[in-house]
Amino acid sequence: MRALITGISGFAGSHLAEYCLNRGDIEVFGTIRWRSRTENIDHIKNKVQLMECDIRDATSVLKVLEKVKPDLIFHLAAQSFVPTSWHAPTETLITNIVGQVNIFEAVRELNLATRIQLACSSEEYGMVYEGEIPIKETNPLRPLSPYAVSKVTQDLLGYQYHESYDMFIVRTRAFNHEGPRRGEVFVTSNFAKQIAEIEKGEKEPVIKVGNLDAIRDFTDVRDTVRGYWLSLEKCEPGEVYNIASGKGTKIREMLNTLLKFSGVDVEIKRDPARMRPSDVQILVGDHSKFSKATGWEPKIPFEKTLEDLLNHWRERV
Ligand code: GDD
Repeated sequence: MRALITGISGFAGSHLAEYCLNRGDIEVFGTIRWRSRTENIDHIKNKVQLMECDIRDATSVLKVLEKVKPDLIFHLAAQSFVPTSWHAPTETLITNIVGQVNIFEAVRELNLATRIQLACSSEEYGMVYEGEIPIKETNPLRPLSPYAVSKVTQDLLGYQYHESYDMFIVRTRAFNHEGPRRGEVFVTSNFAKQIAEIEKGEKEPVIKVGNLDAIRDFTDVRDTVRGYWLSLEKCEPGEVYNIASGKGTKIREMLNTLLKFSGVDVEIKRDPARMRPSDVQILVGDHSKFSKATGWEPKIPFEKTLEDLLNHWRERV
């Protein structure tokens, strides 16, 4: 079986590639842009086939799909950082929405029977009210950033292409997933990196933070990508599934856990530049629909995820 991972050199993409390779029964292909940094996949570069592709370019997508003719597509390539979507909304919408349409249209043009997983997001729920926790897939979508709107659109296009053309498309709404190789702009990784720098004496003992009161539902990326695989093996095409741990953690609590692993004495300083025009205050997901369909349960405790992430940065700073 041939699996194509868009965004293979990204955080989740690299872990999914490892998962597929470890299975031993999959030929793994991945798309990268000509300028992509590839350190996340350097260790597996000789085991995967990398294809140069910009998903925003329809010709580029068509050519790759013509060559690979994948049985499975895991569509992870995206502009994935929420704050960037306020600075570059057009770029975010084009990459995420048009990029996905290019993939769908290429699959149609080539008449492929490819099964497609879409990396949609818990950010789509956006403004969530107290009585709506834990969030089910049927919750209203009230997106609070251009990024979230792009993911709502990707999600709905997935539904529409399934209904219109009977394409095998499964939509997964992953809640926050963390672990080694997480991009340094995201909160867990950013704080872990700052702590590692303080430990090495490379930075004054001050941790810059944004909104510490937000609550997120964290899953280890290695559990999330196993979920992505299962979604194409066991889920119903056209349907949408939450992949979540079901537990809420305050960002402040997450920071305290990282500090507990370190023991450094720090000052915590609010950085206004890290505050968002509208932040999603609480996301805690109900994953019972996905677990029922696939048997999936999160396995790796969040403390272990954070410890692995801190050690990742200790080896790099
Ligand atoms: N990045 C960042 N940096 N976030 C901070 C900081 C900081 O210094 N301080 C507090 N936060 C808060 C943010 O305001 C937000 O409420 C929360 O920490 C998590 O921020 P991120 O790690 O940037 O992730 P996200 O929740 O915005 O989005 C991630 O999860 C989504 C799934 O729910 C991304 O991975 C998205 O691509 C993904 O779709």
